[in-house]
Amino acid sequence: MPVSPIDWDDGTIRLLDQTLLPEETVWLNIKDIHELAEAIKMLRVRGAPAIGIAAALGVAMAANNFKDHDITSFYDHLDTVIDTLARTRPTAVNLFWALDRMRTVLSEVSVKTVEEHCQRLLAQALAIQADDRATCRIMGKYGAALLSDSPTVLTHCNAGGLATGDYGTALGVFYAAQEMGKTIRVYADETRPLLQGSRLTAWELMQANIDVVVLPDSAAGMLLASGRIEAVFTGADRIAGNGDVANKIGTYPLAVLAKRHQVPFYVVAPVSTFDLSLASGEAIPIEERHGDEVVNGFGRRTGPKGVKVFNPAFDVSPAELITAIITEHGVIRPPFTPGLAAAAERSLWKQVDDGLP
Ligand code: MRU
Repeated sequence: MPVSPIDWDDGTIRLLDQTLLPEETVWLNIKDIHELAEAIKMLRVRGAPAIGIAAALGVAMAANNFKDHDITSFYDHLDTVIDTLARTRPTAVNLFWALDRMRTVLSEVSVKTVEEHCQRLLAQALAIQADDRATCRIMGKYGAALLSDSPTVLTHCNAGGLATGDYGTALGVFYAAQEMGKTIRVYADETRPLLQGSRLTAWELMQANIDVVVLPDSAAGMLLASGRIEAVFTGADRIAGNGDVANKIGTYPLAVLAKRHQVPFYVVAPVSTFDLSLASGEAIPIEERHGDEVVNGFGRRTGPKGVKVFNPAFDVSPAELITAIITEHGVIRPPFTPGLAAAAERSLWKQVDDGLP
């Protein structure tokens, strides 16, 4: 069973501190919104769906902490809380999607008491977490069906249980393949500079007894040229209306290499990662992080003090490099625009419980 990185425990958010993996397994007890904002900024909790779940639970926690106040100051306080969380990380749209859902619940006019708001906000946050767990399992099955019986695949960053409710998007495909009885070998890009591939993906795949091999990002070209890779699978942080995909820095060169070597490049992401308000990936805000992550990472200076550093946390892979986008509503192939719009619409219907499978 893949690990669940976020738990709700009677008013406290329990987070597995991902900055300490794989050496230490430390759970944080988050009781305050500023602690949560720090945990998101510092990547103690990370990965697009997990950030959304943590933020939603954060709103529920803040509401619960403020439940003894009058309703007007309650609304003002939660506005500030939502703004604080929205300022933590700019690229993963799941954060804003989850906060929007919480805001919608909060704006329900028929609710007249703080107590009832608190109950509804918590129910909504837990539903976001439960939906994500179910969604990842569905995407996993769609993705695994594309694989042979003994596939060797390549992935980048961590799009696993640690990055979601508990199962993963790209790694969910590998878990589903294993559940179907396939024998899978996963090559995991190390993922400079924060090493989500070697620290997190390798750790969680080993926990699940999946054969995993870590490689430096720069070895991916050689590996793809060797013909050993059946397909590349990654997650996504934001998908624009035309199918351009923002994901962890280094995904774009991987997509170029996959195309060059005619290896299918699959992106696995739920509808909560779509941003159809953006026509293309050019408009996706890309987070830039501190240069120390590159030249002074993990407590070891690897570049001269004071050197200038370029450290974007994400890049955008153009739609033309992507073979298919695997969602909870099926596998979308180019041209992506109509398929993405149809999947998003289907998700909207699901929110009003239309009885669709
Ligand atoms: O900076 P991170 O570790 O939050 O970046 C995570 C990624 O880029 C993941 O690939 C993406 O969020 C998809 S997770 C299912």
